[in-house]
Amino acid sequence: MKINLTETILRDGQQSLLATRMKTEDMLPILEKMDQIGYSSLEVWGGATFDSCLRYLNEDPWVRLRKMKLRVKNTPLQMLLRGQNILGYKHYPDDILEKFIEKAIINGIDIIRIFDALNDVRNMSKAIEFTKKYGAQAQGSIVYTTSPIHDIKQYLKMAKSLEELGVDSLCIKDMAGLLTPYGAYELITELKEAVDLPIQLHSHNTTGLAFMTYLKGIEAGVDTVDTAISALSSGTSQPTTESIVAALEKTSYDTGLDVEKIDELGAYFRDITNKYSDYIGSFKVDPRVLINQLPGGMLSNLQSQLKEQGMMDKYEQVLEEVPIVRKEMGYPPLVTPTSQIIGTQAVLNVITGRRYNVMSKGIKDYIRGMYGSPPGEIDAEIREKVLETEEPIKQRPAELLKPQFEANLEEIKEFITKEEDVLSYILFPGVAESFLKENYK
Ligand code: CO
Repeated sequence: MKINLTETILRDGQQSLLATRMKTEDMLPILEKMDQIGYSSLEVWGGATFDSCLRYLNEDPWVRLRKMKLRVKNTPLQMLLRGQNILGYKHYPDDILEKFIEKAIINGIDIIRIFDALNDVRNMSKAIEFTKKYGAQAQGSIVYTTSPIHDIKQYLKMAKSLEELGVDSLCIKDMAGLLTPYGAYELITELKEAVDLPIQLHSHNTTGLAFMTYLKGIEAGVDTVDTAISALSSGTSQPTTESIVAALEKTSYDTGLDVEKIDELGAYFRDITNKYSDYIGSFKVDPRVLINQLPGGMLSNLQSQLKEQGMMDKYEQVLEEVPIVRKEMGYPPLVTPTSQIIGTQAVLNVITGRRYNVMSKGIKDYIRGMYGSPPGEIDAEIREKVLETEEPIKQRPAELLKPQFEANLEEIKEFITKEEDVLSYILFPGVAESFLKENYK
């Protein structure tokens, strides 16, 4: 069976290895060539790219998407959406989610990969519904993690729920590279039996396992894998496109892609990435992640939080605290936004020297059920400290949120030129407001 590739260099590749700093002007000249390769999709938008455009690059993320769409005529464009968190760090009401998805699709997105940090499908249901309503493909993601309470049965159950919600395909999203080759073989074999959907594998080579994991996943029947062109591949990014193409060539899994053509892209991106050498870290492979589960982006966040406090000497202690906090919070996968919530609490616990004496709003909301239901039990003592005699909420968290689009439109209307600007403002109020005031006066 032919294996399809999704090229991630313009989203996850540069997010993982270039701190999401790649400018649109460096993407546009190569898009027409990328469009000719025969990838099943190009992942180009969503994740942290939206925030980064506004915050660091003085760019409008919507304009980036439009410019890309003009140059990519054949290959579907794909984005990563954090379910009800959209591209932010908290839940948004359904009217905002719907407007965002509608606009993403109108401006050029063909496939939306949807995940929820707690694997709570209730938080994905509206995003799936709206994606289909506006005519794009909905890919439902299972966030892969390991813990004493996680097993294959839960993933199979989740896959079936996503199938019932009408997703077009499934993705195993392994953000820290925890999935092992034989683990992937077993998981994918069972998923293939449980559901009738194409399955895509997304991993990072953080722990050094991902190339092997892809190969075993492919042998078990995976349809598509995510890869990044060599210049921004491996390490905390995806396995290398050129290597995967070569590995499968002249086998029944042949991708049908031309290594020489991809090599031209490789040369272009090697050149481009030289310009960003300030943002390229020295990370290679770190098998310790198999124990602490910290995805690459989280390590640099923890470091910068500690640096701000002048407490870098506590770094090792924080690394030890993270798995303890995660356990106390019922073993959530560490992915945006839970990775930030758990990480920040670990930092607070260590720098105050008194655990849970100071708690962030994020962790309190988490304990209240405002992010959905955690995979396991929250430590009873900590829960009581936050909730006292109250119960956590039981419904889908966004049901408690009132429509917000119109009110936000009123607030920012003199500075906008399109409805999309209101969405930028809602997701990142501070940075978007200054961006809009500066650029559209
Ligand atoms: Co990723």
